[in-house]
Amino acid sequence: MNQHTRLDAPLPFIDVAAQRRRLGTRIDDAIARVVNHCQFINGPEVRELERDLAAFCGARHAIGVSSGTDALVLVLMALGIGKGDAVFCPSFTFAATAESVALVGATPVFVDVLETTFNLDPASLSRAIEVATRLELRPKTVMVVDLFGLPADYEAIAKIARRHDLKVIDDAAQSFGATYHNRKIGMMGDVTATSFFPAKPLGCYGDGGAVFTDDDDLAALIVSLRNHGAGADRYDNIRIGMNGRLDTIQAAVLIEKLRIFPDEIEARDRIARRYNELLGDIATVPQVPAGFGSVWAQYTIRLPAGQRDPLAATLRAQGIPTAQYYPRPTHKQTAYLAYPVADGGLPVTEMLAAEVISLPMHAYLDAATQDRIVMAVRGALGK
Ligand SMILES: Cc1ncc(COP(=O)(O)O)c(C=O)c1O
Repeated sequence: MNQHTRLDAPLPFIDVAAQRRRLGTRIDDAIARVVNHCQFINGPEVRELERDLAAFCGARHAIGVSSGTDALVLVLMALGIGKGDAVFCPSFTFAATAESVALVGATPVFVDVLETTFNLDPASLSRAIEVATRLELRPKTVMVVDLFGLPADYEAIAKIARRHDLKVIDDAAQSFGATYHNRKIGMMGDVTATSFFPAKPLGCYGDGGAVFTDDDDLAALIVSLRNHGAGADRYDNIRIGMNGRLDTIQAAVLIEKLRIFPDEIEARDRIARRYNELLGDIATVPQVPAGFGSVWAQYTIRLPAGQRDPLAATLRAQGIPTAQYYPRPTHKQTAYLAYPVADGGLPVTEMLAAEVISLPMHAYLDAATQDRIVMAVRGALGK
């Protein structure tokens, strides 16, 4: 922060403009190239991005699609999931996770999360499978979410999935760029879906997403489904699909952003660790298990219920935005009240919903600005 910056100037929660300044005219030039060649749909940048994304994470196939939600829907369609099928998913996530399941006519069965990582609790998953069987649903798939950018524990989940013959879908909308025991997100589970919503660690300038898999047949199916079920003959659509394509302009933006992404991941990690050092004595700060690497889509602390809302109000008055992800778990939202939950309920999910608060987090948060946020948090909590 330079000495002319006002100490109470409002801060952004995510500073997309700082990234744009860093990229200079590269994005403008990339967009202009598309505007000039006019291949707005399925243009060459889409294929170039798909190659770059696959190389980045090591997956055999990367398929650009229209959003993270559509990525999940396309994956479920390709796996043939539908009426009578149970898909196990957390409730402590964005609604799109369960929404995609309901959209294909299947039943989301909600699973609790672990207090330490906010990710799927394998014991609760086992209890949810029992519930589905009791309800005469077919246990088909577990949809794993890597909340706030931290991978879930895939080894523990895979053991249960193998026992019950479940496919593992990674809803990696928040975690593209993260690592799990030296493997990048995109390689976990049978198939991975991510989002390029602008606020995501790797975001475009509108809606966008991608699917990753090593399975050639599944990849070919998703390519067809994202383009209305197209076959080899363009006038013979061979299955019911949808319009789920990634715009060429968004691909062009992402190609440029992906080049600086490794550097941004490092910056996010440095900033998150610094928050942990400066706040670890006054709040429950996020921990990254050994062998895991978070991409810090959010930096989320926990406070005893009752302290959170006053903290948010005090920070807001000082121009510091915060967010609550997620104050109402999906299974408590109107559209999802009728869906089953694991035996024993979701007590951790409900506790976290009352305690979490996310602080500004992006790769361009300088130390002085971070100090201002930390001092405001400490002041508000009287510490
Ligand atoms: C966990 C999770 N799943 C799915 C989505 C949906 O992504 P999109 O907004 O690109 O449709 C999001 C986006 O916020 C998300 O956080």
